[in-house]
Amino acid sequence: MNLKEAAAREALNHVRDGMTLGLGSGSTTAIFVDLLGKRLAAGQLHHIQGVPTSEGTAAQARRLGIPLTTLSQHPRLDLAVDGADEVDPHLDLIKGLGRAHLREKIIAVHAARFIVIVDESKLVACLGTRGPLPVEILPFEYQAHLAWLNTLGCRAELWSEADGSPARTDNGNFLARCWFKDGISQPAELARALEARPGIIEHGLFLGLTDAVIVAGENGVRTLHRQGENP
Ligand code: A5P
Repeated sequence: MNLKEAAAREALNHVRDGMTLGLGSGSTTAIFVDLLGKRLAAGQLHHIQGVPTSEGTAAQARRLGIPLTTLSQHPRLDLAVDGADEVDPHLDLIKGLGRAHLREKIIAVHAARFIVIVDESKLVACLGTRGPLPVEILPFEYQAHLAWLNTLGCRAELWSEADGSPARTDNGNFLARCWFKDGISQPAELARALEARPGIIEHGLFLGLTDAVIVAGENGVRTLHRQGENP
């Protein structure tokens, strides 16, 4: 079993009959969704409904016969399960290298518990040291948003497709990738600045949202809990 699958399998132990689940995006969550679909089909789980964080996850869930619902019908989810690009010692995250962090964040804040599944390569001492911070930006005057992002101590570039066209999210927006040479020293400050700026739709910093992180490594699977969370 590979590490992503090991983390996904462990997350399934938190799923109970009757739950409404936030279904994340990315390759690790895709394994979780696959396993969930198989358990439902085998009659080992009942009355599960999912709220997907991307068109890709929605399509996968439909293929597997996982019933889908919406936040308008179920504003309080029992549990959301999602992957991450980076996890720091406070269980703060960078997400969005699968382009889905806006919907992922909306769903995470509606969940009673938010569980993150990763392999141990995602653990970092400081966010922004493993890869860029994705930021969803408005296409209108996007070059002005990029220029402003470049004043924040990072190198911000437009995320482009192989053919040179701007990459788009499921919401029709563009994306910037912000590279911080020595990582993000003040994530909360950076998040506040990004949230206050018109044209910046959503950043990939997930601060104080995570309840637990399931980490699969060569020596087994362990679960890191947010301080104060009852395992
Ligand atoms: C999707 O936008 C992301 O937030 C993913 O959750 C993240 O990129 C992790 O993806 P993998 O599980 O594919 O590494």
